[in-house]
Amino acid sequence: NKQLYSTTDPASLWVVVNKKHPLHPASYVPIDLVVPNVRLRLGSGNEQMKFRKITHTDLIEMFAAAQAEGVQLVFGSGYRSHGLQKQFYNSYVAQDGRAEADTYSARPGYSEHQSGLAVDFTSPSGKCHLEICWESSTEGQWIANNAYKYGFVLRYPKDKQVVTGYQYEPWHFRYVGKELANEMHNQKITTLEEFFDLPGGTNY
Ligand code: DAL
Ligand code: ZN
Repeated sequence: NKQLYSTTDPASLWVVVNKKHPLHPASYVPIDLVVPNVRLRLGSGNEQMKFRKITHTDLIEMFAAAQAEGVQLVFGSGYRSHGLQKQFYNSYVAQDGRAEADTYSARPGYSEHQSGLAVDFTSPSGKCHLEICWESSTEGQWIANNAYKYGFVLRYPKDKQVVTGYQYEPWHFRYVGKELANEMHNQKITTLEEFFDLPGGTNY
């Protein structure tokens, strides 16, 4: 049932955030942010080390399952406020120009990270952090194969830039809950835009 949860309410597990669907309100802050009890890239006081509590059981289960197979995942960046995304985006624009920045960074108010449901994973070594080569790392391969079992989907697949609006990001996963993640896996549908038949794409 694709109507079970809202795709526009920012607090919904199924919220779709992309260039056509900003967060409403733009200043949205989740009410259940916690510091997850998993290996963190940064100190626990850092805003990016927060994530929605509703994800916690599945997140812990996923880290434990990886660990049991000798894979140490690291929670690299979760929640980002409108203000922090603005700082990131502006620095990318200064570095690469706006057109290039828009292919890999969301503008403030348009980032899935602001929902508290998106996370960038990384490795204990920091090798290939936020780089395409992370897909070949032990951690990157494990999560690509197993994330759906714990309610996470790879949000920016390799061949879907025209659909999602972003370059391939093997490290960026979105929590949607086990039911939807399994359904997308079974149906071999790899983007939320295609599953819910909602507009996305590279233009704002
Ligand atoms: N890198 C993703 C698209 C973001 O900035 O939210
Ligand atoms: Zn991300």
